[in-house]
Amino acid sequence: MIISFMNQKGGVGKTSVTLGVALTLERAGERVGIIDMDSQKTSTRFLYYLRANNQTNIEITTKAKGFDYVLIDTAPNLNKKQVKAADISDRVVMVTKTAPPNLLSTQETIEYLTKYCRPDLPLYLLFNHVDQRKGHSQNLMEKAAKVGGTPLPHHLSYMSDYEYLFLQGYAALGNAARLELSQVVYDIVSTPK
Ligand SMILES: Nc1ncnc2c1ncn2[C@@H]1O[C@H](COP(=O)(O)OP(=O)(O)O)[C@@H](O)[C@H]1O
Ligand SMILES: [Mg+2]
Repeated sequence: MIISFMNQKGGVGKTSVTLGVALTLERAGERVGIIDMDSQKTSTRFLYYLRANNQTNIEITTKAKGFDYVLIDTAPNLNKKQVKAADISDRVVMVTKTAPPNLLSTQETIEYLTKYCRPDLPLYLLFNHVDQRKGHSQNLMEKAAKVGGTPLPHHLSYMSDYEYLFLQGYAALGNAARLELSQVVYDIVSTPK
């Protein structure tokens, strides 16, 4: 299965979620590769670091063959490259924060992909950085209805565990983060379009 993580906006958590999902799948015994489409090469650098420290066997790859799951970490742009990545994917996960400027960019990204990608593409909305103390993290399903895409039943909370993922891999995650990541992985793999 090929899964792309997208949003034209930077800093919403595309790379963190790609890595968190990859490490969760690896933990479940799956062979995982990551295609890094961002010229900043954040996932490539940290993956090499984690591999050098024997914290993972996830590979950076350019080809989808030979893996149970290939995750595509995309660049914060909106052009033909994103459309191409989406079109070779079995699912697209639109990662978004909950604040109004993020939701606007997310809506634009979804509209663009809906216009230019194949019509049967499953396009899921995943709220990241969710902080229940913040007003804009409330009523997520209402927000999802405006933004578009199929909202996943679970979201990812604002948690410092995710910041340490890059340097410590799966060991950075406490039980709460592990649980919500495994729920999100299940959502991505099993939610109907
Ligand atoms: N759920 C989260 N909780 C706390 N920090 C997060 C969360 N998701 C991402 N971050 C942090 O936000 C920053 C941007 O995330 P990143 O994955 O690089 O975004 P993108 O790839 O979309 O640019 C990073 O410092 C990362 O550690
Ligand atoms: Mg990134």
